[in-house]
Amino acid sequence: MVHFLHPGLLCRTLILPDAGTDAQGCCVVQEEASPYSLVTICLNTLVANLEKLCSKRPDGTLCLPEHWSFPQELADRFLGMLASEGKLTDKTASIFQGDQMKLKLANIQKAKLSPAAFLKAFCHHKLIELDATAVHTDLPIQDIISGLCSNIWIQKNLQCLLLDSTGISDDSRKLFFGQLTGLRVLSVFNVGFRNEDLANVSRLPRLESLDISNTLVTNISALRACKNQLKSLTMHHLKCLTMTKPHILAVLRELRCLLHLDISHHSQLNSDLAFHLLQQKDILPNLVSLDVSGGNGITDRDVELFIRQRPAMHFVGLLATDAGASDFFTTKQGLQVAGGANLSQIAEALSRYRNRACFMKEALYRLFTETFSMQITMPAILKLVTVGMRNHPLDLPVQFTASACALNLTRQGLARGMPVRLLSDLTDLLFKALRNFPHYQQLQKNCLLSLTNSRILVDVPFDRFDAARFVVKWLCNHGNPKMQTMAVSITSILALQLSPKQTAQLKDELFVAIKELLAIVKQKITENLDDATLLFTLKALWNLTDDCPAICKHFIKNEGLAIFIQVLETFSESAIQSKVLGLLNNVAEVKELSSEMVTTDVVKHLSSLLHSKEMEISFLAAGLIAHLTSVQEPWASDDLQRHALLRDLHATIQNWPSSNCSMTALVTYRSFKAFFPLLGSFSQPEVQLWALWAMHHVCSKNPSKYCRMLVEEGGLPFVCDIQEHTAAEPQARQMAAAILNDFRMHFTSYQRAPLQQLSLT
Ligand SMILES: *[C@@H]1O[C@H](CO)[C@@H](O)[C@H](O)[C@H]1NC(C)=O
Ligand SMILES: *[C@@H]1O[C@H](CO)[C@@H](O)[C@H](O)[C@H]1NC(C)=O
Ligand SMILES: *[C@@H]1O[C@H](CO)[C@@H](O)[C@H](O)[C@H]1NC(C)=O
Ligand SMILES: *[C@@H]1O[C@H](CO)[C@@H](O)[C@H](O)[C@H]1NC(C)=O
Ligand SMILES: *[C@@H]1O[C@H](CO)[C@@H](O)[C@H](O)[C@H]1NC(C)=O
Ligand SMILES: *[C@@H]1O[C@H](CO)[C@@H](O)[C@H](O)[C@H]1NC(C)=O
Repeated sequence: MVHFLHPGLLCRTLILPDAGTDAQGCCVVQEEASPYSLVTICLNTLVANLEKLCSKRPDGTLCLPEHWSFPQELADRFLGMLASEGKLTDKTASIFQGDQMKLKLANIQKAKLSPAAFLKAFCHHKLIELDATAVHTDLPIQDIISGLCSNIWIQKNLQCLLLDSTGISDDSRKLFFGQLTGLRVLSVFNVGFRNEDLANVSRLPRLESLDISNTLVTNISALRACKNQLKSLTMHHLKCLTMTKPHILAVLRELRCLLHLDISHHSQLNSDLAFHLLQQKDILPNLVSLDVSGGNGITDRDVELFIRQRPAMHFVGLLATDAGASDFFTTKQGLQVAGGANLSQIAEALSRYRNRACFMKEALYRLFTETFSMQITMPAILKLVTVGMRNHPLDLPVQFTASACALNLTRQGLARGMPVRLLSDLTDLLFKALRNFPHYQQLQKNCLLSLTNSRILVDVPFDRFDAARFVVKWLCNHGNPKMQTMAVSITSILALQLSPKQTAQLKDELFVAIKELLAIVKQKITENLDDATLLFTLKALWNLTDDCPAICKHFIKNEGLAIFIQVLETFSESAIQSKVLGLLNNVAEVKELSSEMVTTDVVKHLSSLLHSKEMEISFLAAGLIAHLTSVQEPWASDDLQRHALLRDLHATIQNWPSSNCSMTALVTYRSFKAFFPLLGSFSQPEVQLWALWAMHHVCSKNPSKYCRMLVEEGGLPFVCDIQEHTAAEPQARQMAAAILNDFRMHFTSYQRAPLQQLSLT
């Protein structure tokens, strides 16, 4: 119940990135440290409470209140938020029926919708864009297109359609893209899209930008049909191509309007298409952006030559190639390079390739080597790492490499400059990775290491229950002493951050942990080694036994008392003594355990520690004596000894300074309940005296916390009782009056109410 807080150990000054050298970092800090916009907050609230706010139709779908209507920008954002939270289903999509919501740029990513619901909710809006990336297979492409085409306006005016990673129904394979005559931008990345579909799409009259990455296309000849208009062609990892290089290049050569070309490839596949492209003279003269990442045999010289012939080039992708390191690339103004040669190139790669796991992994790997020598906080880079983790939750290489990067980017002082919200996101993502890869030790280690960061552990919001469960498991299962020290230190801090209910839920795990912790203490006694691990272990035990009788019983059952007596006999530092006494206080508060606690050894040590010159030690020893002597049964055979201790306690308290004095560490209590039996103990005024001294001490230091606690826990009647009781010691009555005085000063406005209630009871 009691513990000490040592103030002043944390430095909370924020070291901000410098705007001159890291403009993006500055932006990220500002963005992450700013409150969310009012619109975002409102929309989030709506998303969270949609069911409560809407009425239900007979079929169970939701219906907005009658008089509500959303302007288009808000409706678009609201839809996007529903989708990104995974809440867009037939039931919720129905609020977009009718004309209360006006959609224009619709985002239904990853939604689980039936074709009928899609048709009813979205296809009557005047849509300019539809992002249906990775929608559930319940809604195949054929149904999306036929839904869209059911509206003549959409057929003519839909400009942008993103269908990445969507499914195709096998029933009728035909995809009628041809009817969407307004399309300018189409993306079918990772879709079972074939030559005949390409033939159809290539004839769309206004098509400008096409992404056919990782599709089943084997022959791109059909693109000739749009050679006079196609400006952007992305064919990353087009693995099924069966044409010869000269044939492919011949087709590309005809695409004279092309500004952007992406022929990047998984690096393991040794594609040399890019190599051949770079050898061509006069091909694609207007190109401003070329991505050849992952290509084989690419040299600095070839790329440099290619770019020199096209001075307007502003982007080149060179990740996982042999090119990018020459001075030309690091000095050329206005040229963005996604690559691995320097940090700017890596950042560009992390940003461009956020949806491509193969390149994400590669860029993270390069980043990891860069972080070895990193001396400054890089919030923009850390943010990109979290984006990568979020986009590829089930990709082990990405998760693992990202966790290693995150660790180095936040190590020691570096985390202090990172915005709390960003660190909170990161911690959530690390725990998600743990859940997805429970058997991958190195990943678990990285996560544990990131938790040893005091900034994360103290300042950052995350699911502490989950974390505690994980850490305790680590503590029990792993022999590596260094990792064990970390697990122990984290446990000591997390233990007090759990609510009693959560501690109860974790009981089984914590029982094992207590045993482990006691084994560590025993080991240190044998080695006569009072190192950091010993201190952390004692702290953890102190915090774990706080307000938790089940854990205290388990401590006694596992011979904790004998081990702790040995600690007192082996080490005499007050830092160790205070932790031992703190824990024993917790145990002594459990009345059933007091008979186990009263032993010759305990009494011997308490009598001596009571006279310690350190005020904290004396105070804790006195508390323990007060608890143990307040019950008589354990002393049955030796009541004289009890009386001797009580006299000693009384004399010691007389020697203490006034109870409003300061100790070097701040005494704190989570509850006053354990004091109530002591306060009622009129036959042992020494015990009353100690309890009153302790309560007055904390009330005078922190009246707002403890005066409230006094009322809320029903402690006030006990104090009033002592003040009014003629049989109470005068000193006790004075102290009770002092507490009541603190209390009145604090609650001047409504002092009468609680005090009146008291006199009735
Ligand atoms: C696309 O294919 C469909 C059916 O296969 C056809 O009706 C339509 O005319 C084609 N469109 C173009 C532009 O070729
Ligand atoms: C690709 O398609 C074109 C036109 O349809 C055809 O002439 C050519 O033979 C095809 N090439 C391959 C390798 O299938
Ligand atoms: C890295 O290279 C880019 C050009 O690709 C250059 O603009 C940038 O200054 C370089 N960054 C560092 C940190 O050297
Ligand atoms: C980054 O992490 C690696 C492995 O975890 C470590 O060897 C390296 O020293 C770390 N770098 C820094 C600067 O901490
Ligand atoms: C118990 O945990 C808290 C964190 O809530 C920490 O501040 C305190 O130092 C810990 N107490 C001990 C005795 O370790
Ligand atoms: C403690 O209380 C006394 C009066 O009871 C007062 O004179 C003294 O200044 C107080 N000391 C502190 C440190 O507040």
